[in-house]
Amino acid sequence: MADVPVCTAIYNYYVEVGVSTFDEEPRSAVQGLEWYAAHRDPRYPLIVWELGDDLLGFGTLSRWSKKSGYDRSVEVSVFVSPGHLGQGGGRLLLSRLIAMAEEACHHVLVGRIEASNKDSLILFQRSGFTPVGVLREVGFKQERWLDVVILERILNN
Ligand SMILES: CC(C)(COP(=O)(O)OP(=O)(O)OC[C@H]1O[C@@H](n2cnc3c(N)ncnc32)[C@H](O)[C@@H]1OP(=O)(O)O)[C@@H](O)C(=O)NCCC(=O)NCCS
Repeated sequence: MADVPVCTAIYNYYVEVGVSTFDEEPRSAVQGLEWYAAHRDPRYPLIVWELGDDLLGFGTLSRWSKKSGYDRSVEVSVFVSPGHLGQGGGRLLLSRLIAMAEEACHHVLVGRIEASNKDSLILFQRSGFTPVGVLREVGFKQERWLDVVILERILNN
């Protein structure tokens, strides 16, 4: 719970700068708490990356769809503090989330990444995700249409 404001600040940086999230309005403190509450279910965890006392990144597994037939598919998200990119935090968070998805008996991990987000596409593909398609012009932010690459990793469950 104490981590929520820092996670919110990291997330809001990416809301304001760039298109890695298609949210356009900063997440409020209340919305941050709602987000935290949604990830208290152990099947849909929120994890953080810390060095010493500093929280430098976070990652989540989220329901892919509320329809029950999708129950064993989860979407994965990872966000690292802009001052601490390239230090292995993203890789660490993603590998831990993959392990947690396996432990939770999920079957498929899905990533949705804006098509120009090369760092994320590299990270996900090096972590065993395969691009399975591109949704063209499905997003609109910063006065332009944005394509989204869908990646998936099928687990052995
Ligand atoms: C994507 C993101 C999580 C990566 O975090 P990071 O901590 O900088 O990544 P890491 O340092 O763990 O690097 C992960 C891998 O990507 C590679 N990589 C990272 N940035 C790279 C770059 N600019 N060029 C080439 N490779 C790069 C690293 O070499 C590493 O590969 P390796 O482990 O095989 O050596 C981070 O850029 C971020 O938070 N971006 C905004 C949010 C986002 O796009 N999230 C992903 C979609 S949900």
